[in-house]
Amino acid sequence: MLNGKKIVLGVSGGIAAYKMPMLVRLLKKSGAEVKVIMTVNAAQFVAPLALAVTSGSEVLTEIFPAASIHNAELNWTQHISLGEWADAFVVAPATCNTLARLATGHCDDMLTAIYLSLRHGKPKLVFPSMDEEMFLAPAVQRNIGQLSGDGCTVFAPEHGELASGLVGMGRLPEPETIVEKIRAALELHGAPQAARKIYTGKKVLITAGATREKIDDVRFISNYASGKMGFALASEAALQGAEVVLVTGKTFLPTPAAVTRIDVESADDMLRAVESHFDTCDVFIAAAAVADYRPAAAAAGKIKKSEAVFDLHLVRTPDILMQCGRRKSPSQLVIGFALEVQNAEDNARGKLAAKNLDLIVLNSADVAGAGFEVDTNIITLIARGGAIEKFPLMTKREAAGKILNRISRFFDED
Ligand code: CTP
Repeated sequence: MLNGKKIVLGVSGGIAAYKMPMLVRLLKKSGAEVKVIMTVNAAQFVAPLALAVTSGSEVLTEIFPAASIHNAELNWTQHISLGEWADAFVVAPATCNTLARLATGHCDDMLTAIYLSLRHGKPKLVFPSMDEEMFLAPAVQRNIGQLSGDGCTVFAPEHGELASGLVGMGRLPEPETIVEKIRAALELHGAPQAARKIYTGKKVLITAGATREKIDDVRFISNYASGKMGFALASEAALQGAEVVLVTGKTFLPTPAAVTRIDVESADDMLRAVESHFDTCDVFIAAAAVADYRPAAAAAGKIKKSEAVFDLHLVRTPDILMQCGRRKSPSQLVIGFALEVQNAEDNARGKLAAKNLDLIVLNSADVAGAGFEVDTNIITLIARGGAIEKFPLMTKREAAGKILNRISRFFDED
């Protein structure tokens, strides 16, 4: 599936580097050619020889190998020729230090040099892996934002057990997952220009993640939505040429490249942000899991506990999707999601009609691999007029592609 693709893998010095010989093996088995670049610190975690043997190629670290300093016949311009050679540049694991060096354009070893000499437009995939607190540190998030803005696709680390013994966000995805992300990136890159740029000139407004409804200054009501589906849609829409505004509840996901992101907290905040962009958008996709209720009044400070039963009075939040469906002009498209357990299709059709939608994306809550927090989804698309399309389990990124593709078919009808 990666037949003949040339991949430069940059390995930096995190514990997850020990998984890289396995990644190289999988890439080779998929038909790719792989050249491995290591930072000096990476060799603390994985033997260079293991990477040389699995890749079948010399592993490079310094820009100028010691021997080449005295011998001009040796290849001392590999930092450029490899940038020309590569179809994709992958950094896994990417440590804080490597993220910082890439974000600031340093060029002090082979990994950073190839990043800079990579030919324009080639996919750059970055997989940070570190302790959760380090990942969330403002400086690291700032560097990730910079890299996204520079056209890198930065993948959020996974949640789970970390080398420190702590549990949190920071794990490098398994090699199989990384191979799949590389494959998807190269497939998109290789797609015909016309197919990729179908959203040029369109403004797409997307909601993502969970809202938080305050109980008091330290507590809130929310849900498990991670924002992954909405972020995948935003990333794909931007790649397909759209101007994208992403209104998101609290999430640790990095901002996709070329996407304008607005962070909000509550359903009311989300509605306000959506209203300020809705009239100028061509497509509105409500992927957020908006809380249906909020406390009638948020208490100031912190509510003290007592032995008495505590009643929390809840009121409905605004239905953002419903309001947009009612307000839309004939040229606008409004797309909603439905998470259903029983009578899934009937309920989804009911929502499509009640909210005046053009398309509804049905997720089944009770199927393994679909729903909140995971990277995969099982979707069914029901269009206005009733046409239905069912898809098997796929990554949220692939699902985003299917959804955007289906929406784009309305462009010809309108
Ligand atoms: N939605 C919204 N504003 C709300 C609630 C939901 O924009 N206050 C949007 C969601 O983003 C999603 C769709 O509406 O696109 C979900 O519809 P909803 O009626 O909330 O259905 P579910 O939550 O799926 O299910 P239920 O009807 O059982 O609550």
